[in-house]
Amino acid sequence: MPNFQKFETFDKLTTVPCPYAPDCGGCQHIGVPYGDQAQNKINDLSGLFTAASVAFPQPLKVLSAGPAHLRDRLDFSLQDGRLGLYRTDRHEILDIEVCAQLSPALQEWLSDFRKIQWPFKRGSFRLRVGPAGQRGVWIDLANIDIKTLLDEQSILYSLQQQSFVEIGQRRKVPVWTGNEFKLRDPEHHVWFQSWMNDTPVNLYCQVASFTQPSHKANKVICDVIYDWVKRYKAQRLIEFGSGIGNLTFPALAGAESILACEIDDLSLQGLERSLNELPASLSHLKDRVTIYRGDFQKKLTQDFSQFDGVLANPPRSGLMGFLNPLQNLAPEQRPEFFIYMSCYPESMARDLVTLQECGYRMQEAFIVDQFPQTDHYEVLGLLQREKA
Ligand SMILES: C[S@@+](CC[C@H](N)C(=O)[O-])C[C@H]1O[C@@H](n2cnc3c(N)ncnc32)[C@H](O)[C@@H]1O
Repeated sequence: MPNFQKFETFDKLTTVPCPYAPDCGGCQHIGVPYGDQAQNKINDLSGLFTAASVAFPQPLKVLSAGPAHLRDRLDFSLQDGRLGLYRTDRHEILDIEVCAQLSPALQEWLSDFRKIQWPFKRGSFRLRVGPAGQRGVWIDLANIDIKTLLDEQSILYSLQQQSFVEIGQRRKVPVWTGNEFKLRDPEHHVWFQSWMNDTPVNLYCQVASFTQPSHKANKVICDVIYDWVKRYKAQRLIEFGSGIGNLTFPALAGAESILACEIDDLSLQGLERSLNELPASLSHLKDRVTIYRGDFQKKLTQDFSQFDGVLANPPRSGLMGFLNPLQNLAPEQRPEFFIYMSCYPESMARDLVTLQECGYRMQEAFIVDQFPQTDHYEVLGLLQREKA
């Protein structure tokens, strides 16, 4: 059984030095002792829940994978030769050579990436380091600049020597045909990793895909999901926002079956590939997941009474219409438990009001601090339906 205690005990006095404070807009609380940051997040979330009249277990707990060096993906911008994040005043990009947010492997990748001389004024990049240390970059430029990049050849050639390259909103892959670069369809590779207790599970996706930001912090998240789902035996789960299956796998360790509801086709292709590529010891899990594609904030035709539990990890806008069919059921027909994970506590609080009206009460809640030094945090809540 995972032990969360080690994630609760962190050095409260730690401050993280940064040569760009206070000019960089990336971290709002750099320089503030880490314990105070954790307490501020507790206060913030408690305030939100209290204002919405949502009952919650007190005191809220923070689980931390560390105060710095967590991120394995980084989104940043190019502006007139500067490569970095927006300044605090949001007017221009601050050139950043080192960042305390980055994992050591990502920092090394950034340092190498910065050696490239870009012939463009503006652009956006995502750098990523996969679970095996492999490097990826997603380049988003104006169409005319993408053409220049393909025609120029030497930058792309050098980038492909050191990383996997994706280009544009459609995540195309530049392929050398012998005399020119052509853009081909997106490819799925193992850029992220989920966990079933201490067994890692490879997740196929693109550099540009949504993933949680940190391999290390994601282990904490997967452990919580694993632990919570395991408490309920032999259940059928419905999952909102499965994405590439990051929470699907730890939940599968305790659930008989999972209906993975997701809007994004490429993510679901990744999940399907991950299921197909499971090692022999886990291949029996494949048939326990059903993939279901649609816009489930608008409409869900599934009957919640056919499920024992719900696992939801929605986008910032929250669950919206997904909860409508739940409200229309008799209380005893509603699933026994509801796990809600969110990086946007305002919409979570709104949905929790609806869930409370449906008879759910929060049994446990954690803040997983996967965005230390910033205003942001992840919330995980386990709700149980009260028996009539
Ligand atoms: C915060 S991400 C979570 C992904 C995944 N659980 C993870 O941990 O990586 C939210 C997911 O909800 C999906 N999503 C957004 N809007 C949706 C909708 N209207 N219906 C279904 N899924 C949606 C997104 O594509 C994304 O995969």
